[in-house]
Amino acid sequence: MSPGADGSQGTRRLASGAAGGAAVANPATPARPTRGLGAPPGGDRGRGLSEGFGRTERTDAWWLQPVVQGLALLVLGAYATWAAFQGNHYATANYLSPFYSPLLKPKWWPLSPALLVLGAPLGFRGTCYYYRKAYYRAFFADPMACAVGEPRGSGYSGEASFPFVLQNIHRYLIYLAIPILFFLWMDIVKGFIFDGHFGIGVGSLVLLASNSLLTMYTFSCHSIRHLVGGRVDCFSCAVAGGPRHKVWETSSWLNSHHMAWAWWSLFAVCGADLYVRLLSQGVITDWRLM
Ligand code: FES
Repeated sequence: MSPGADGSQGTRRLASGAAGGAAVANPATPARPTRGLGAPPGGDRGRGLSEGFGRTERTDAWWLQPVVQGLALLVLGAYATWAAFQGNHYATANYLSPFYSPLLKPKWWPLSPALLVLGAPLGFRGTCYYYRKAYYRAFFADPMACAVGEPRGSGYSGEASFPFVLQNIHRYLIYLAIPILFFLWMDIVKGFIFDGHFGIGVGSLVLLASNSLLTMYTFSCHSIRHLVGGRVDCFSCAVAGGPRHKVWETSSWLNSHHMAWAWWSLFAVCGADLYVRLLSQGVITDWRLM
């Protein structure tokens, strides 16, 4: 699903002359390849669309990233699913697994409490622009990477038709993801209270790190960036334009690292659940630092 996958094809003939000249003009600068990965803007960066499945002119290890990311998504997704269905060992005296927050235990619900609250964060993550890119590549090979042949040639409709059009719900799920952060931060506060007194355990820091990364992930969302400034054409003409511009700049910086927040927060939230789980089973002990 890469609108730009064939973007280089129309300019293929513009490439070689300019790149070759630059390499000769400045011997201190490493020569740029005239074709393929690293070719100059407008140059021939290899074809993908209309090529046979998996065929490419790329010579780098383009397959490595989708393979590693696909494996990571499978392992972490399997762990999160398993942990959510357990319905036990999700809390200690003052720590609560982030998968189970906010903790809801109505009498009429016979299954794990996590299943009552995980829908929103799961939907938010599953429709995230970054994760879409990752799993389209890893699991649908659509495409496997830029400029690599896809399984189908024509009839590309992107996300404009069912079922992928449903991914647009992402911009609304942000309104559910933010309140959940509020509950998670309340749990972090409780994680620093031991027998009614302030204290710090390793678990307090594990939960703090997990929720900090979740917060960065949520607030680096493309939808947030659009909300705070994406609709404004002229900040100096808008009401409170100066502060809004600053917020938008911060949001843009966060957004530029969205992939990193996505992965770190996923590892952290699984790690926090595992920590609380092992602690509640008595497998490990929580060291008190204060
Ligand atoms: S784009 Fe990734 S969370 Fe919104």
